[in-house]
Amino acid sequence: MTNVHAVVGAQYGDEGKGKMVDFFAAKARMVIRYQGGGNAGHTIVNEFGKFALHLVPSGIFHPETLCILGTGVVIHPMNLVTELKSLQAAGISTQNLLISERAHLVMPYHLWQDIYEEQSRFAKVGTTKQGIGPAYQDKSGRFGIQIGEMRDLDRFRERVHSTYEQKIQRMPGLADVAGSFAEMWEELETAREVLLPYITNTLPLVQEAVQGNQPVLLEGQLGIMRDIDWGVYPFVTSSSPISGGVAAGAGIPPTVLSRVTGIAKAYTTAVGAGPFPTQVDGEAGAWLRDKGQEYGATTGRPRTCGWLDLPTLRYGAWLNGYTDLALMKLDVLSGLPEIPVCVGYELKGTRHDMPLPAYQLEHVTPVYESLPGWQEDLTECRTFADLPTTAQAYVERIEQAIGVPVSHISVGPARQQTLVH
Ligand code: GDP
Ligand code: IMO
Ligand code: MG
Repeated sequence: MTNVHAVVGAQYGDEGKGKMVDFFAAKARMVIRYQGGGNAGHTIVNEFGKFALHLVPSGIFHPETLCILGTGVVIHPMNLVTELKSLQAAGISTQNLLISERAHLVMPYHLWQDIYEEQSRFAKVGTTKQGIGPAYQDKSGRFGIQIGEMRDLDRFRERVHSTYEQKIQRMPGLADVAGSFAEMWEELETAREVLLPYITNTLPLVQEAVQGNQPVLLEGQLGIMRDIDWGVYPFVTSSSPISGGVAAGAGIPPTVLSRVTGIAKAYTTAVGAGPFPTQVDGEAGAWLRDKGQEYGATTGRPRTCGWLDLPTLRYGAWLNGYTDLALMKLDVLSGLPEIPVCVGYELKGTRHDMPLPAYQLEHVTPVYESLPGWQEDLTECRTFADLPTTAQAYVERIEQAIGVPVSHISVGPARQQTLVH
């Protein structure tokens, strides 16, 4: 029996993955980020303070837990250096970090390409402008550079120079906003010095841990509705946050995955464009945003808020294969007389139980069921029995609708505000 546990976003990102990975990491041998890059903003509140991690895996606060940036991740070298320095300044050791030599680089030109492409799009994606899409485009297009290529300085310089020249030629508009090669190289050389000791072949370590039945955690970035294949395409990211992305991105066979925890807020939020059926505007939306402090950890953008969308969780139960769910931010819903929960969608007289492609999802009408609310503050609750009965019923309704147990309920940002159910 293996002990390989994926923690994946069950909605549109920002569900609280960082908090739960930090929580589970206390008992893990290693935590592997398997996709995405600096577009992540994973917030962790623990005895060391409050942190928003972008690239570094959320297990970093546990010195005995190895933290791996997996092969499927894309890394902006200087941004990673800045993040490492800020952690070190807060007294957190980063010696337990390792970077897969096969992970791809996000180059400075990918950031301006991201902005350039976003400007030229008819339907804006609303990206985080972290160069994620362009870095994955170059990876798929066979123009990318793997981080292990940094080791040989002369060869690396040649590679960077030729890709830079190609990029300028292929996208003439970029030449005007790009810094010079010399500027870019200076930054890369500095970052290279810091990052070299972390770069390694992670495969034997991961293999040893899995084969030794040690607890291995996989940390997802974003959520199912922004998955490149199954999300609201084209308003998605350029990688696979679903559990199907774990094997390729972390370097494990799919058959060893033994647990998949879907992280879901007790309501729904999204940043960026695209359909969001349960979105609520006006006063109710503003109330959720204020109460939940729904502002992006990476961009500071206000998140769009809405009610819980059960079709999305049902979709993930199949596609991600949830063994359990963690229900986050239940405390935020205190104070409502009734809580609408979306149980399905209607489109042209037909009922749908799962999300549709974006071009159809934008036309659906959500079907709501109203559940009784509660007035009590939940932030001091520490067991399921401490919750008001209507809050317990809310959790049980989700379990019943999705057919997946809710194993954890979160009632605040801190580690100890986590109820095991
Ligand atoms: P991630 O990207 O999935 O890691 O999620 P984010 O960190 O972007 O967003 C989740 C936000 O909710 C962060 O500010 C967390 O500190 C906060 N948070 C997590 N769990 C809870 C909870 O149960 N209650 C409240 N009130 N805040 C929470
Ligand atoms: P975490 O890991 C929320 C959204 C962007 C945009 C789309 C594509 O903290 O949950 P990208 O920059 O990836 O090309 O943007 O995805 N997005 C996120 N939304 N949380 C994130 O990360 C996100 N990362 C990207 O807003 O809609
Ligand atoms: Mg986030």
